Amino acid sequence: MLSRLAIFALSFLASTVSAAGLPPDPFAPPTGLSQDRLAQYERGRLIFSAHWRPSGTTGPDDFEGLGPLYNRISCASCHNAGGRGRAPDDPSRPFLTALIRIGMREADGTVGPHPHFGTQVQDRAVPGAALESRISLAWEETTGSFADGEEYSLRHPVLTIRPDPGPNAVASIRVAQPVRGLGALEGHEVGFGWKGAQPDLRHQNAAAMSGDMGLTSTLFPEPACPLEEQTCGGGPDEVGDSRLDDLTHFIRLLPALPPHATPNDQEGEKQFKALGCAACHDPSRPAMTDMQLHDMGAGLDDGLPEGDAESFEWRTQPLRGLGTILSRNPKAPLLHDGRARGPAEAILWHGGTAQASADGFKRLPASARNALIRYLEGL
Ligand code: HEC
Ligand code: HEC
Repeated sequence: MLSRLAIFALSFLASTVSAAGLPPDPFAPPTGLSQDRLAQYERGRLIFSAHWRPSGTTGPDDFEGLGPLYNRISCASCHNAGGRGRAPDDPSRPFLTALIRIGMREADGTVGPHPHFGTQVQDRAVPGAALESRISLAWEETTGSFADGEEYSLRHPVLTIRPDPGPNAVASIRVAQPVRGLGALEGHEVGFGWKGAQPDLRHQNAAAMSGDMGLTSTLFPEPACPLEEQTCGGGPDEVGDSRLDDLTHFIRLLPALPPHATPNDQEGEKQFKALGCAACHDPSRPAMTDMQLHDMGAGLDDGLPEGDAESFEWRTQPLRGLGTILSRNPKAPLLHDGRARGPAEAILWHGGTAQASADGFKRLPASARNALIRYLEGL
């Protein structure tokens, strides 16, 4: 129990910290939680930020069971401050906040796990375990032009995986999605991840622990380990159900980003509706997504079906909060693999059932295109 004096000292500290102009706590809890729910939120926040250690190592806490193969040692290292990740800008840079999903196309056309990599490439391994792979990413540019003649350039990823996964392998680059405001997206047929493949937040979090960090749980008891090795990992449940519950409680309640401060642009809003954007990014829904899978065309086809999604299908990404992301970086890498440098390129990549929206955008005069971008910057 904290004494009254300690509470006074803490609140004094909090007020001096904000007075010093430090940014607000990105993981601040929503207001009005009961004491029990607040305590569980704080436990979940700790699990999200914890640096997990390999099994059998000693440390100051009990966050143990990392690896043997993994991508990063904590949730927060990819979802920095709860935000989104990016893919490396050139082959010399490591994957820090993005990962690779992978599969193997069989003779009958179906896609199953890859015999060496499984369903995800882990590019890190604990001391003593063999490294599964090395990955690097380059980008190729193609140019095009708007109807008014103004030129644009789009980049698409060229991925190298070592050892060579073979000609029938299919690989998909995924940047970390923002993890804020997700409680409002629960309860739909389409779930979590860029292809909506994880049915609910508990499964999504357990899948992240397993695939991204090599932590087993009752939902994913198999360790992430090189297939050749027989024994690896510290057992079938390194996380524990109560920690998974706490983490899920935290993710469910982590508040959405507030809408960006600039007033929404009326001309831009008109274009947003006229171009059919609102059919999928429905502004009447809390996060501006219909939570459906859509055929996004050949340009965004990654060759990898997942859950109910075909290789060319993606879940409508929420646009609420996009303005705050763009206010920090107007060319923020968007779409599932971060190929779009800002919202205009993201729109230009829309194909399939969203092709008409991209075509309409290309036909607009520059003033109307800019109005639409201003509208997105206000979300
Ligand atoms: C290596 C980077 C990485 C790490 C570590 C990581 N994530 Fe993620 N996260 C991602 C990526 C990439 C996606 C998108 C996954 C996909 O489409 O397959 C994602 C998606 C999610 C989503 C779904 C968001 C949505 O809109 O559907 C949640 C929730 C989430 N992660 C939570 C976590 C938690 C909790 C942890 C820690 C246990 C974690 N992540 C660790 C990269 C990471
Ligand atoms: C048929 C449904 C559909 C329509 C219509 C549509 N979108 Fe999208 N949008 C999507 C999907 C699905 C994604 C995710 C694609 C991906 O990540 O590869 C997306 C992604 C985006 C993104 C990137 C978001 C992020 O955080 O990465 C932006 C920006 C965007 N859309 C804006 C628009 C605008 C503006 C329009 C109208 C000009 C529009 N969209 C029309 C389905 C649609």
